[in-house]
Amino acid sequence: MKIKRIVEEALEESKQLLDKGKLADYIPELTKANPRHLGISILSKDGKKFSAGAVKESFTIQSISKVITLLFCLDFFGDEKVFSLVGREPSGTPFSEFITLSDFTDKPKNPFINSGAIALASLLASRMTFEDYLAKSNELFGQGDFKLNQAVYTSELAHSERNHSLAWELKRMKLLSADLETSLDFYTKVCAIEASAENLVDLAFCLANYGKIANKQVFKQRDIATTLSLMLTCGLYDGSGDFAAAVGIPAKSGVGGGILAVVPGRAGLVTFGPALDYNGNSIGGIELLRIISDQLDFHLFLPQAAI
Ligand code: DON
Repeated sequence: MKIKRIVEEALEESKQLLDKGKLADYIPELTKANPRHLGISILSKDGKKFSAGAVKESFTIQSISKVITLLFCLDFFGDEKVFSLVGREPSGTPFSEFITLSDFTDKPKNPFINSGAIALASLLASRMTFEDYLAKSNELFGQGDFKLNQAVYTSELAHSERNHSLAWELKRMKLLSADLETSLDFYTKVCAIEASAENLVDLAFCLANYGKIANKQVFKQRDIATTLSLMLTCGLYDGSGDFAAAVGIPAKSGVGGGILAVVPGRAGLVTFGPALDYNGNSIGGIELLRIISDQLDFHLFLPQAAI
């Protein structure tokens, strides 16, 4: 009861920020979203689900897919191979950044900026098709509700000059494992997977549950630790430091408006609000998570109460 009230009040308060945000428009199809939408779904350790607001609205997961891609890559190829292709450092630049790709380093800074995610999508594409990826994601967390949003996929592919440039540079640096068009197609399709906050919360919970789904260890605990560490330091791009200080939990955003957030050992959370801030992160989602973290003692570096 207490949580329900906290979540509903936080939702109302966060809605006041929505006018300050903007829909992503570099993928034209995303401008069809309703910028007033905001919702949150929480799945706690004892299996309780709390939802409020726009939790049944479908949106494309966009960069949230980078978490799934990283988990699959770590699982199939191991740490050493994965981190020979991407680093583990914050980029300090926007998600589609080009500058640090090869001027100062020999690989993308981390798996969550586009260049890093394209390199890992390429690695996966050398081993599985997009259909395999969708089926495996559905089997593990989507319960059959994850689908490809064909319109968003086509819209992004028709405007993917920047990602093409990044992919060409990755090819020059010999960091692509599949051919360039296959790699980009795979990357763009996984970004265009559509789900609702309620559908996605099982993925957040799997991370909170150290890789276990229904008592089965599906991912190695060490791979979950690596993924959560990178979400904490790089998951919100140039907004990662502010988010870590204010909210204090690992999270990953997407320009479709979703944020996947994890309170290790305690709860998985997903917010949806397509109005974005300057860094391309959901403005309402961040505020919602900030208030709820504050009220429920989620910050990892503060003493924690049971939820
Ligand atoms: O490649 C892109 O630009 C998009 N498909 C994903 C970017 C994204 O979601 C960044 N996140 N906030």
